[in-house]
Amino acid sequence: MGNKTLAIIKPDAVRKNVIGKIISMITKAGFKIKAMKYTRITKEQAAIFYEVHKERPFYGELLEYISSGPIIPIVLEKENAVNEFRKLIGDTDPLKAEEDTIRKLFGESKAINAIHGSDSDENAEIEIGFFFSKSELIFNQ
Ligand code: RTP
Ligand code: MG
Repeated sequence: MGNKTLAIIKPDAVRKNVIGKIISMITKAGFKIKAMKYTRITKEQAAIFYEVHKERPFYGELLEYISSGPIIPIVLEKENAVNEFRKLIGDTDPLKAEEDTIRKLFGESKAINAIHGSDSDENAEIEIGFFFSKSELIFNQ
């Protein structure tokens, strides 16, 4: 059981100006921020990040969405981080997400759902490496 996960505040949430509210929910839930940046990815970079979904019908829409504006990748630390963070964000579909989850509060639809969370320790490590260089990942402070 690992203690790191990658969150991404997605373009819809950045546009809605709710970055502060989301980060506040994350830190109140006991996660420590270990690295964070305000950035943007191209459709080509998004295709690599979401390669696991390339056969899914929503793939094209997903690439358009995630590359449509600035995003905020954040490395988070907490015991059992992957599972704990997925509880905090709620179901992929905001309509099915539990009360007080980030997607329930800020997501618009199953496709446009405010935030990403890694789905396994292995993927967390890969995803963290996608957005952050070794020198940016100073975990021991
Ligand atoms: P994420 O990877 O962003 O944390 O989301 P997730 O695990 O809950 O969902 P996943 O199945 O990995 O899907 C990745 C993202 O693709 C978009 N999506 N659209 N239109 C659709 O039916 C649909 N299904 C998924 C969402 O943006 C989802 O977060
Ligand atoms: Mg996923």
